[in-house]
Amino acid sequence: MKLQNDTFIRALLREPTPYTPVWLMRQAGRYLSEYRETRGKAGSFLALAKSPALATEVTLQPLDRFPLDAAILFSDILTVPDAMGLGLYFADGEGPRFERPLRDAQAIAKLAAPDPTRELKYVLDAVSEIRRALGGRVPLIGFSGSPYTLACYMVEGGGSDDFRTIKTMLYSEPALLHRILEVNAQAVADYLNAQIEAGAQAVMIFDTWGGNLSHAAFREFSLAYTARVVATLKREHDGVRIPSIVFTKGGGLWLEDIATIGCDAVGLDWTTSLAEARRRTDDRVALQGNLDPMALFSQPAAIKHEVARVLADFGQGSGHVFNLGHGISQFTPPDSVACLVEAVHALSPAYHRDFKGN
Ligand code: CP3
Repeated sequence: MKLQNDTFIRALLREPTPYTPVWLMRQAGRYLSEYRETRGKAGSFLALAKSPALATEVTLQPLDRFPLDAAILFSDILTVPDAMGLGLYFADGEGPRFERPLRDAQAIAKLAAPDPTRELKYVLDAVSEIRRALGGRVPLIGFSGSPYTLACYMVEGGGSDDFRTIKTMLYSEPALLHRILEVNAQAVADYLNAQIEAGAQAVMIFDTWGGNLSHAAFREFSLAYTARVVATLKREHDGVRIPSIVFTKGGGLWLEDIATIGCDAVGLDWTTSLAEARRRTDDRVALQGNLDPMALFSQPAAIKHEVARVLADFGQGSGHVFNLGHGISQFTPPDSVACLVEAVHALSPAYHRDFKGN
């Protein structure tokens, strides 16, 4: 089925578009009352993510409210380590946890990449069901955590303030961490390719914690493995290009390196200037971002002002996907999102003056 709105895909491929497409990381989530209602019906976040019908329902909720230019699969990056047998659970108000964190050599030796068509079938079923429900309105983004970001949760056993456990492994037993990252790279590549076969029209790799590594360690323990994943991705499905996006939070200093691994687009947090990023990457990749999510707590005039600033920072031409610099806060007023999306669509055509239509 032909896409009715393909501006997002075209922008990722740096093809001309009439305006700048926009979607928001974590656009389906707790800031929406209808999400909280569906989550209540499901009983828990995991039950929601594991039900293809309910995951489809919440994926579409933000699109029914706002004229967003892409949908993102409702799931979580931690489904992969869960499928590896680590036992994911959510402790009330404490975020994700694993029952069996990966710490000893024996468990690490036994770690294996799951078969996504078996252990993660519920995700693939959600992808097909969402594609059917979208009916070609906008493209669907599939996603995964990066090998290193997944390893952070697997080794720490949950979130962390200082990443002491994984960094201790990195400095004192690097071979153990390399073994985990190798398995994760295989798992992530298989998982993203399975999402592409099930109908994902673009894929995004979230390297949420890569920015916590030292300059030298980032390349060896994060970027090298993300690069392996990108090199293994299917670049086409049914004759259509499937663009890839790599987002390293706090990765602005390493932009040139990230832009050379073969991805089509690089996601940026709000600490990097889009104009500078564009110059530094020589327009070789598209850029996605990068409004500070906290700007959404201000008044409409200030939100519009910030949107205008981000658009002007990227400047004339194609290759920009508007987004936040990180996931939307659960406390965000939905009216702020309406204001943001409207401002992007109203102000961005001025930056696509060369657009001549299809
Ligand atoms: O963007 C979307 O709308 C798609 C859905 C999505 C979720 N998680 C749903 C979710 C995506 C793309 C993710 C990715 C994810 N998950 C990341 C990478 C992106 C980032 O934010 O850096 C990370 C690090 C995780 C791990 C994770 N999952 C954490 C730390 C938490 C708890 C934090 C929180 O916000 O409470 C989750 C749970 C989670 N994943 C929720 C949602 C909507 C909240 C769960 C709930 O409903 O209670």
